[in-house]
Amino acid sequence: MSDWISVGPFDAIPALGARVVATAQGDIAIFRTGDDQLFAVRDRCPHKGGPLSEGIVYGHSVACPLHNWSIDLASGEAMAPDQGCVGRYAVKVEEGNVLIAL
Ligand code: FES
Repeated sequence: MSDWISVGPFDAIPALGARVVATAQGDIAIFRTGDDQLFAVRDRCPHKGGPLSEGIVYGHSVACPLHNWSIDLASGEAMAPDQGCVGRYAVKVEEGNVLIAL
């Protein structure tokens, strides 16, 4: 069973942006999309470890700031023709606070 940990208020995550949370499992980037959905993934691009949290969010995807791979935030998969996958975490909002499952 996973533990839910609180990572702060929903409002602290900028729209079309991300917040990084340091955890025992490494840095996790929590993205907020334009339609206010949240996605939590490892903050390491599956290509060469770029900080996805500093990438450009569009739709439900993020473009890595280093070499522009696109990562689907819902599946964690890099989009073709690139191949790779980033670890995902469950995320939810309760009473305005964001929680992720480790
Ligand atoms: S490290 Fe992300 S595209 Fe290269």
